[in-house]
Amino acid sequence: MKILVVGGGGREHAVIKKIKENKDVEKIFALPGNGGIAADAECVNIGATDIEKIVDFASENDIDYAIVTPDDPLVLGCVNALEEKGIKCFGPRAEAAIIEGSKAFSKELMKKYGIPTAAFETFNNMDEALSYVETCPIPTVIKADGLALGKGVIIAETNEQAKDAVVSMMQDKAFGKSGETVVIEEFLTGPEVSVLAFTDGKTVKPMVSSMDHKRIGDGDKGLNTGGMGTVAPNPYYTDEIAKRCMDEIFLPTIGAMNKEGRTFKGCLYFGLMITENGPKVIEYNCRFGDPETQVVLPLLESDLLTIMLATTNGNLADTEVKFKNENACCVIMASDGYPVKYGKGFEITIPEDISDKVFVAGAKLENGKLLTNGGRVLGVTEIRGTLKEAIDASYEDVSKISFENAYYRRDIGKKALLAEV
Ligand code: AMP
Ligand code: GLY
Repeated sequence: MKILVVGGGGREHAVIKKIKENKDVEKIFALPGNGGIAADAECVNIGATDIEKIVDFASENDIDYAIVTPDDPLVLGCVNALEEKGIKCFGPRAEAAIIEGSKAFSKELMKKYGIPTAAFETFNNMDEALSYVETCPIPTVIKADGLALGKGVIIAETNEQAKDAVVSMMQDKAFGKSGETVVIEEFLTGPEVSVLAFTDGKTVKPMVSSMDHKRIGDGDKGLNTGGMGTVAPNPYYTDEIAKRCMDEIFLPTIGAMNKEGRTFKGCLYFGLMITENGPKVIEYNCRFGDPETQVVLPLLESDLLTIMLATTNGNLADTEVKFKNENACCVIMASDGYPVKYGKGFEITIPEDISDKVFVAGAKLENGKLLTNGGRVLGVTEIRGTLKEAIDASYEDVSKISFENAYYRRDIGKKALLAEV
């Protein structure tokens, strides 16, 4: 089979390394890929949102299956466009990807179908939003409706901060069109769990749970990032919670999307908070999470491509989705200054014997050298029998990888270890 993967981050590198395990895979193209992915796939210089060029490339190169993993091409209808040309795809069509593309949509969906989530109000008018936040309970959470690179969420500790957030989104357009509508919601507390799930629109098969570390600094301090590291499984996700999530959240969500005529196929990401009143949805993503994918897929024992094809063909119920009974830890190495401003172009050295543990994100190849080219540069994942061993092994690898300006959190997995005791 000839496969095309749209995207070029650590998540895509993890997907590509996994699907290479399938003997039927003859060739993988990554659009655009990156300097590290180039070791595992042929990278083609077409951007992940350049849908016309992606479709032309797929048609001209007899692609048998296209895997679309980033949020923006999914929301923009990349799968719709490829399917129109008869190309089979992994990933939701635009009408289903809206579950991530519009927070107002997903919140209304949850309200309509009784899926547990934080109480909320939606506003299209700034004056109404401002009078609401003047008196709303504090802390409160202000969210831009549309995609905002994971940065469109502000937790306001005072009514004044809440007003500033509304003005910056709705008047100053800090997130462009994404902030024309805002969702203002109740602040929830409790441990967070990420659950990625395969679905063909009928059956849901959740993957092993994981824990992301979103803030830039140790101890969850500082700015939000795309994610600085992950561990799996997440110790807060007990069998009892998993059962509740299946009954109260996962199956109702798939059913709700069908009833709305928006059948979801692909990987649906449930960002959950385990509150005193049970699990609640913080957010949906229409795709694999990153860096969650970098711990979840290495733990997958079953064949990824077979599962992906089953989500497309509708036979997920008969397809094995099995995970190793082990622990994984991924530490992200970033460029110092991320997520604000950082230098690029520094040479990355990765010892040969650990290169199969490394998923490359922000890097490019120049004259045979791998150079830093982004905020999150790479992720290092190790799997061991215990979480502590997996964490230690990942940090051991990190100590052997070098590039100027490297920054990483020193406490990935620490919170999970405390929860285990
Ligand atoms: P999101 O992009 O929606 O995942 O939000 C980013 C982060 O903001 C989440 O991972 C949570 O830590 C936090 N967050 C979002 N919504 C809420 C909420 N209603 N209550 C508390 N924290 C929240
Ligand atoms: N790690 C969170 C996300 O992929 O959105």
